[in-house]
Amino acid sequence: MSETATLEINGKKYEFPLVKGTENEIAIDISTLRSVTSGITTLDNGFKNTSSCESAITFLDGEKGILRYRGYAIEELAEKSDFLEVAYLLIFGELPTKEQNEKFHRDIQKKSLVDEDVKKILDGFPKTAHPMGVLSALTSALTAFNPRSVNVDSEEDMYWAIVKILAKLPVLAAWAYRKEEGLPLEYGDNSLGYVENFLKMMFDLPNEVYKSNPVIVKALDKLLILHADHEQNCSTSTVRIAGSSHAGLFASISAGISALWGRLHGGANQAVIEMLEEIKEDGGGYQKYIEKAKDKNDPFRLMGFGHRVYKNFDPRANIIKVAAEEVLADLGIDDPVLDIARGLAEVALNDEYFKSRNLYPNVDFYSGIIYRAIGIPVPMFTVMFAMGRLPGWIAQWREMRLRKEPIGRPRQVYIGATERSFIEEDKR
Ligand code: SDX
Repeated sequence: MSETATLEINGKKYEFPLVKGTENEIAIDISTLRSVTSGITTLDNGFKNTSSCESAITFLDGEKGILRYRGYAIEELAEKSDFLEVAYLLIFGELPTKEQNEKFHRDIQKKSLVDEDVKKILDGFPKTAHPMGVLSALTSALTAFNPRSVNVDSEEDMYWAIVKILAKLPVLAAWAYRKEEGLPLEYGDNSLGYVENFLKMMFDLPNEVYKSNPVIVKALDKLLILHADHEQNCSTSTVRIAGSSHAGLFASISAGISALWGRLHGGANQAVIEMLEEIKEDGGGYQKYIEKAKDKNDPFRLMGFGHRVYKNFDPRANIIKVAAEEVLADLGIDDPVLDIARGLAEVALNDEYFKSRNLYPNVDFYSGIIYRAIGIPVPMFTVMFAMGRLPGWIAQWREMRLRKEPIGRPRQVYIGATERSFIEEDKR
C-alpha cells in the first residue's frame, strides 16, 4: 500500500499520509489540508465519507454485517455475556475478572441513590412529557448534585463519574416512566442484578409483591447488549463533540440522549411500532405502505429500514428477530404486529426499490416487539435504547478524553450574501 495520497488542485500537487486501521480500513489524514492549500477544506454532508477519530472500541463492517465490541463478535456477547459485563468491556477494554466484575457492580450499587431534590425537578414536568426529554433534563441536572463529576482529570474521578451515571440513569429512566403513570418513585433492590433491578424499579407496585420474570430479564439484558455501542453514530458523535469542550460526562450524555431521540435515529423504534400499529388498524395490508415508502412525493419512510453503514444486513436485527419470536413464545403472547413486521420485511426485501438501495431491517425494526411483550410502553422504547447505549457513550467519551483529543470544530463552505452596507429602515 502506498504511504500517501496525492491531491492536485490548480496544477499543484499535495501529498497526505494514509492511515490504516487494524481491520485494514484506510483513511487520508487531511489534518494539514487547510494550512498547506491556504484555506481549502473538504465538504461531506452527514459525514458519510469522513472518519471523525481513531477508535479502539467498536468495529463495524457494513458490507459483511460485522459488529464487534473490543474485538468480540456481537453474536457471542449476546449469547454468553451479560449487559454489565459488556459495559465493563466497552469502557475499560477487557472482559472483567470475577473480582473486577463484582467490584464494578458493588460500586454501581453504592452510587445508585439519586438526590431527593431531583424529584422536585421531575415534579415540574407535565405527565404528558416525553420520557426522553425528561431523561435528558434529569441527566444534565445530575451535574448540579455531583459537581466533582465535571473535572475528571484523575482516573479515579473519571471512574466514579462513570460509575455514578451507570448507577443513576436507570433510576431516572424508571422515574420518568413512573411519573407518566402516576406511580410512586422506586429505588429498587440492590440485592438484584443490574437489569433485574431496573425492571423492579419500573414495574414494582406499592400494593403487590414484585415477582421477577427471568425470561423478561434475559430478553432485556440481551437487547441492552445489542444496543451498547455502534461506533460514531449520530448520538455518539454528539457525546464526543460535547465532551471535547471538556463539558462534564453527565452533560455530554444528556446531549447524546437528545440526539438519540430523533425518529431517524433511536426514536425509530417507537416510530416502527406506531407504523406497524397503523398498518394493523388499516386492515394489515402492507403493500400500500411499501408504495408510500417508495413514493418520492410522500414523506413516509419505512421506519426500521435502512442504515447509514449496514448495506447488507444489520446483525443486531437478525438476533433481535429470533429473540422476539422466542420471547413471545416463552410468554405465550400472540402479537399480530410481529406477523405484520415479518410480512412487511419479506415484501420489502424482495422489492427492487429496497434491494437497489440496500435497505434492510435495522436494529429498531423488531426491538419494539420485544419491549412491548415485556411490558415497556411505546414512549419508553427510546429510553431503553438510551439505557443500552449508555456504556458505549461512556466508553467513547472516556477514549476521547484519555487521548486528549482537541475540541471538535468543523469548518464550512459559506454560501450566504457577500459584503454589503447597512440600509436605513426608511430605505428598505
Ligand atoms: C439507528 O448510525 C447508526 O449506527 C445508527 C444506529 C445505532 O445503533 O446507533 O444503528 C441506530 O439510528 C438505526 C436507523 C433507525 N432509523 C430508521 O429506521 C429511520 C428510517 N431509515 C432512514 O431514514 C434511513 O435509512 C437512515 C436515516 C437510517 C439512513 O439514511 P442515509 O444513510 O442518510 O440514507 P439516505 O437517506 O441517503 O437514503 C438513501 C436512499 C434514498 O433514496 P434515493 O434518494 O436514493 O432515491 O434510500 C432511501 C432514501 O429515500 N431510503 C428509504 C429509507 N431509508 C433510506 N426509503 C424508504 N424508507 C426508508 N426507511
